[in-house]
Amino acid sequence: MKVVAATGAAVEFKIFDWSADRYLKDGTTVPPDGFATLARDFDAIFVGALGDPRVPSNIHAKEILLGMRFKMDLYANVRPVKLLDESLCPLKNVKPEDVDFVVIRENTEGPYVDAGGVFKPGTVDEIATQEDFNTRKGVERVIRYAFELARKEGRKKVLMSDKSNVMTYAGGLWQRVFKLVAAEYADIQSQHMYVDTLCMHMVRDPKQFDVIVTNNMFGDIITDLAAALQGGLGMAASGNIHPGKTSMFEPVHGSAPPFAGKNIANPIGAISTAAMMLEHLGFASESARINQAVLEAVREKKTTADIGGSLGTKEAAESIASSLSRTK
Ligand code: IPM
Ligand code: MN
Repeated sequence: MKVVAATGAAVEFKIFDWSADRYLKDGTTVPPDGFATLARDFDAIFVGALGDPRVPSNIHAKEILLGMRFKMDLYANVRPVKLLDESLCPLKNVKPEDVDFVVIRENTEGPYVDAGGVFKPGTVDEIATQEDFNTRKGVERVIRYAFELARKEGRKKVLMSDKSNVMTYAGGLWQRVFKLVAAEYADIQSQHMYVDTLCMHMVRDPKQFDVIVTNNMFGDIITDLAAALQGGLGMAASGNIHPGKTSMFEPVHGSAPPFAGKNIANPIGAISTAAMMLEHLGFASESARINQAVLEAVREKKTTADIGGSLGTKEAAESIASSLSRTK
């Protein structure tokens, strides 16, 4: 909030306590009218990290995070991957200009719909099924989103990644829809890559990627890999978007329970997420200022130890906030 306030953007905040402490006190994850209130009264949602181990069976992530994605129909999970400084990339001889792409992850379907079941549970004959949902509508709208984003950001290529050599029914749908939509965007190159090959190339030669669109599960996996290319999960930002609806912004990382209360977690993922949110809300110059301040902090190593600095979470965040107020 301090970061946003320092840019001067006229953003009003309301904080909802949907925390682990709240859950432990009264069992609330999302209050009954929670999603309706968010959709009706707010332009955007900024979500902190989830995953406190005191909350059983990850019900928090399920009801709050997946709840927002599914119930608010935030179908495009936009995860930019940008290397800010050469020192942050674990790969040899990779420069900032070599890692600059965006993953668009389908965000409302796939195995995440929680369909399936167990037969003869707990016995040696147990069978577990987990169904992978792919709808024509869901696949088409996220692919279209990827092409639109490429146009808007002046990017040249959209790559669709799947596992259609094995998962033939779901992959077949993705393949057909991708070809149909790509044909409408003659100005953008389209390409396909199996997801296993994609993982290999992401490490061997990340420079070739521009916009990647993929399903929910593959998107989840490749964005952790992609986060490592930019300095780790602590650096990665994301937006969960449905154009025209109240969208949600969250750092890609979880709550990193071993770091809790130690003032060592990297605040940049959350700060860059705030920049994404501001851009989405129409505050482009404020967003650019935040990104610039983050870039300078990284270059000057005014950061936490995971990316080479010696500051605490609070100090690193405050240093970025104060550099923003200086450059007003
Ligand atoms: C993510 C996370 C979530 C996901 C978990 C916490 C449910 O890993 O946002 O990438 O799998 O989508
Ligand atoms: Mn994930």
